[in-house]
Amino acid sequence: MLRRQFCFLTTTILLFDLTLGFYLPGLAPVNFCPSSPTDVSCETEVKVYVNRLNSIETALPYEYNHFDFCPTPEKEESPVENLGQVVFGERIRPSVYKFSFGQNFTDRAACESRKYKVNADDKRKLQTILDGIKKNYKHHWIIDNMPVTWCRTLADDPSKKVCEPGFPIGCYTKQNKNVDCPLSYEKLEKDTHYLFNYAHITIQYHPKENDWGNQANKLPEGAGRLVGASIELDSVDFSVKGKRVPMALPEKIDKEFAITYKYGVTFIVNSNTKWSSRWDYILNSTPHTEIQWFSILNSVVIVIFLTGMTAMILLRNLHKDIARYNQMDNSEEAQEEFGWKLVHGDVFRAPRKGMFLSLLLGSGVQIFFMTMITLVFACLGFLSPANRGALMTCALVLYVCLGTPAGYVSARIYKLFGGEKWKSNVILTALLSPGIVFGIFFILNLVLWSLGSSAAIPFGTLVALLGLWLGISVPLTFVGAYFGFKKRVIDLPVRTNQIPRQIPIMSFYTRPLPGIIMGGILPFGCIFIQLFFILNSIWSHQMYYMFGFLFLVFIILIITCSETTILLCYFHLCAEDYHWWWRSFLTSGSTAFYFFLYCIYYYVSRLEMEGFASAFIYFGYSFIMMFICFLLTGTIGFFSCFWFVTKIYGSVKVD
Ligand SMILES: *[C@@H]1O[C@H](CO)[C@@H](O)[C@H](O)[C@H]1NC(C)=O
Repeated sequence: MLRRQFCFLTTTILLFDLTLGFYLPGLAPVNFCPSSPTDVSCETEVKVYVNRLNSIETALPYEYNHFDFCPTPEKEESPVENLGQVVFGERIRPSVYKFSFGQNFTDRAACESRKYKVNADDKRKLQTILDGIKKNYKHHWIIDNMPVTWCRTLADDPSKKVCEPGFPIGCYTKQNKNVDCPLSYEKLEKDTHYLFNYAHITIQYHPKENDWGNQANKLPEGAGRLVGASIELDSVDFSVKGKRVPMALPEKIDKEFAITYKYGVTFIVNSNTKWSSRWDYILNSTPHTEIQWFSILNSVVIVIFLTGMTAMILLRNLHKDIARYNQMDNSEEAQEEFGWKLVHGDVFRAPRKGMFLSLLLGSGVQIFFMTMITLVFACLGFLSPANRGALMTCALVLYVCLGTPAGYVSARIYKLFGGEKWKSNVILTALLSPGIVFGIFFILNLVLWSLGSSAAIPFGTLVALLGLWLGISVPLTFVGAYFGFKKRVIDLPVRTNQIPRQIPIMSFYTRPLPGIIMGGILPFGCIFIQLFFILNSIWSHQMYYMFGFLFLVFIILIITCSETTILLCYFHLCAEDYHWWWRSFLTSGSTAFYFFLYCIYYYVSRLEMEGFASAFIYFGYSFIMMFICFLLTGTIGFFSCFWFVTKIYGSVKVD
């Protein structure tokens, strides 16, 4: 499956490459040669890039240079990052780790030893490393656009080997020394920080093949493409001569000491893995396919159950109702109207706060199309984890470009409600929902910035985001609204009476609030397993790549949201309660409420975050996600209910 996606991807890139001279950066294969050939481009040096460090125990990532490791070379430029990477807090820098392709070595010093004297400045530097070890911060190194993986056998089950695309700074011996510290020393001290200052990188490469295109035969002997990079860690105090001692960090500096970082490299030939499928093993190292199928099965069962129920209730009752309503031609019998037909003179009565509802609907439509198109692109393989930050960039750009449908829908709905303040409508559609998201994002950024975290986006990017919003999205919304207002009011099947009808007293089940609260349960039930993986990818830094599943779940979410809303809407109309506009939005929108509850549950049960700052960041981002989910699900519910109500009242005769 994955392989096919990549095939598709590479052919598409090739097409782009041929026609437009354009390709997605980082996704074209790079050839490596032991010596530089004259007439064909081939890299001789393998460079390691370092990303920001993060931890599942805090929500605050830090740049590599926040810690006192070998400082990144200032002269070299950092690779260009796309918007999505910057917004998501990735900070990729060149590093001092670089070496010639194809040459094994060990014990090469990475930089001059870092010396620590008895002074406040060095004390602070040491403290950041100690804190980093204690909070379990992880390095993320990148070689040839691939994450460097760290594999180890589990201490409690030596037959199992786990690999992850990140590795710790060091280890702290707290309870079980040998479990806490995967080091090969006989004796480790208790309650000690050991630093991993020796890294041995193993690089697998696929040797040159003749089907690599017409340039391949020009490549020298021994050329290849990198298909895997892994790392082994060790802790060695190089200042002790003659015997091997682990590098234990002192809690306090009472005498001068130095840390030396060294590394080694081994190149291994791997003819079995192709460059195009080199990501498979990283992605397969987190085997969740079974759970994914379970998740789909779970959602499908809910959908079948719900569809069955909806079909049974609606088809049976509705058909009977409509047949009966239409039989009662004239006069006497018509007086004995009952059920939902009774409210025909009120069902399209404009709601209170119609302006606000139309704003939410406009933004909801924008988010709906953004999600839909992003997922389609993701399914086609354009947004795989190999293409860093592409998912977020795609979503942001789409959101900005989809201002037109937002303005259009908001304007048409507002016009339907008989609103007259069309200027406010247009401006608020363009500013309200994005403003809420941007406002929260800005506050979170201030907090991150004050804490020196790398997740704080730079001022330039903030301005760029503002520019995208105010410079592109807002004008596009105005264009949409212009066309929306120019169109005639949406045709409704029945006319609204002058005087509003009294709504009878409701039983518990038909009262608004219980209906709204119940409405979100089933849609949430369909998505919560996927949510687990999505939250994992955001907060536990696991890769998310099963977009096929996600797309399926999105479709299922649309179906369940519509069906529950239609069903509850029907019950309410039968109970002669015609306030359905807002209720339909809130019924399915309450999925977001469950989503937020789930975020709380995830925080408590899955994460080990400590401190107010982390919690603030976590819940800030959760709130943004909840708001987006609310707009999305609410809009789905509203439009399905609108369609349903128009349909049923269109099929009965009203004099
Ligand atoms: C590097 O080490 C690997 C594994 O020991 C070996 O297979 C390979 O031939 C070595 N390469 C060179 C250039 O010595």
